[in-house]
Amino acid sequence: MTVTTDFGIPDIAAELATLRAQVEKLTAKDAIADLVTTYARSCDVGNDPVLLRPLFTDDATWTCKGFGTFVGGDGCALGLKAVAGEKIWWSLHNMISVQITLDPSGEEAIGFWYLWEAANLPNEHTNEAEAYWIAGTYDARFRKVGGRWLFSTVELKLNMASPIAEGWVKKRWPDGTRKQPYFATLQAGETYHWCKCGKAEAQPCDPAHMCGTAPAMAFTVPETGLQAICGCGYSRTKPFCDGSHLNLKYDWSLLGKDGPEAVV
Ligand code: FES
Repeated sequence: MTVTTDFGIPDIAAELATLRAQVEKLTAKDAIADLVTTYARSCDVGNDPVLLRPLFTDDATWTCKGFGTFVGGDGCALGLKAVAGEKIWWSLHNMISVQITLDPSGEEAIGFWYLWEAANLPNEHTNEAEAYWIAGTYDARFRKVGGRWLFSTVELKLNMASPIAEGWVKKRWPDGTRKQPYFATLQAGETYHWCKCGKAEAQPCDPAHMCGTAPAMAFTVPETGLQAICGCGYSRTKPFCDGSHLNLKYDWSLLGKDGPEAVV
């Protein structure tokens, strides 16, 4: 709609201001879409921390059920790097239908997109490389820092990680083991049990198997949905996996540092 003066003449200054605001919005969305692509490309070269680190704010967080939560820009870059070494041996990320909503301040934004990823993962029983389809959705927050858009929070919600040979109908998730989580969709309001005796075939366990040495832990979930239930027993948030099973080693030298910055 053309903005006009009281005399019905197009108000060029107002038009210009409107156009400038629209161009700034489009430029911001374009820069954020570029950031998402740069993130995907950095992940596809083994989650290279040198490429990933500049994409995160210093106080960023990255989280995904079954992988845990990484805190701080360095923590996100090094955590993702460690995951690549441990779990994702090769990947090709397809970030699909990126939706970005700018905050009125123009300094923050939120984003959502789909992930469709081809990857090589170690088979949970043989440790041999296996072709996988990984799919899910990303929710992210972005912040403009020094004129550049960066990730301030990233949450990957996996929807499946399925060996291509078997397909997601037959096998939607890797098997849970003593070394990795059991993925299961749990219902809010239901009571589940987490095996502490080590004899259960799967988690959540059937309390009837209780062998009496260590009674199973009863638990519920706040909302219906996917959960990663700890299989290794080392989680600090039992019965839920917190990524401890990955036993991630942060190689700070990759970022030219000796360790986390001392908190002054
Ligand atoms: S399986 Fe992930 S922390 Fe135990």
